[in-house]
Amino acid sequence: MIKAYQTRCQERVDAALHRLLESPRPELKRLYDAMAYSLFNGGKRVRPLLAYAACEALAAPAEQANAAACAVELIHAYSLVHDDLPAMDDDDLRRGQPTTHIAFDEASAILAGDGLQSLAFSVLSEAQHNPLPAETRLAMLSSLAQAAGPGGMVGGQAIDLGSVGIALDQNALEVMHRHKTGALIEASVRLGALASGQATPEQLAALQRYAQAIGLAFQVQDDILDVESDTATLGKTQGKDEANHKPTYPALLGMSAAKAYALELRDQALAALNEFDAQAEPLRELARYIVDRRN
Ligand code: IPE
Ligand code: IPE
Ligand code: MG
Ligand code: MG
Ligand code: MG
Repeated sequence: MIKAYQTRCQERVDAALHRLLESPRPELKRLYDAMAYSLFNGGKRVRPLLAYAACEALAAPAEQANAAACAVELIHAYSLVHDDLPAMDDDDLRRGQPTTHIAFDEASAILAGDGLQSLAFSVLSEAQHNPLPAETRLAMLSSLAQAAGPGGMVGGQAIDLGSVGIALDQNALEVMHRHKTGALIEASVRLGALASGQATPEQLAALQRYAQAIGLAFQVQDDILDVESDTATLGKTQGKDEANHKPTYPALLGMSAAKAYALELRDQALAALNEFDAQAEPLRELARYIVDRRN
């Protein structure tokens, strides 16, 4: 089920993203090429999938979450372009291809990231792309800004870079992961739920508990794969966390405890969906996928 669902959602969000990157002025061709390169190079689209699945769990058509899906993937793509820069993780492979600063140059990669980030907020704010009531659009903008900003992902990246070579305890590691990865995953679910236009406060709270658990599980699994997978499967250089002296769950807890923790988080996520019916099945499948995935 997840494969067919994933393909359908990927096609839907990619079509919407392509529309956003249309017709640049000729002098902006290199910038738009760098943005397109960073977006259309084979990402799994987990965050758009979560937005669509949350919207559908609340019995609204997935298309209503198109702007939400685009916005979270635009922020994610920007974050990866900047994460790979020499000043940050200094990676030259992403999704099996040269990273944006290698394929273009550093300045183009910085600007492409900046441009992708701004587009995320444009697509949510403009009725043409996000035809929902103005107050819903504002709530979506506010949630995404908080999740992406210094209180969320950017803060997490700062903690990550400040923790190189430092042995964090489990609490500090969790704070870092919840910020750098969890916040945007939580926002993906929340934006999808808001886009449904019919989430009750109880449903939003349950979805937040689900998203907090899978958000942390996602980065725990990313850390596990960095140790256990291989570069060809990952599409990014295996073993970089250890080489860069990054604190990770396998380094702190050991591999089998890290795996057990990922499964425990998956179960917490599934339990948070107890009150939801069969329409939440894609969300349940995504929780399983996040800890079973190999790349
Ligand atoms: C990788 O995210 C970066 C993290 C937040 C761990 P993904 O594993 O979702 O990357 P893509 O988009 O599929 O390449
Ligand atoms: C990145 O975490 C999280 C972001 C906010 C981009 P990582 O540095 O572990 O991501 P990968 O392993 O390079 O994809
Ligand atoms: Mg990083
Ligand atoms: Mg990295
Ligand atoms: Mg990683």
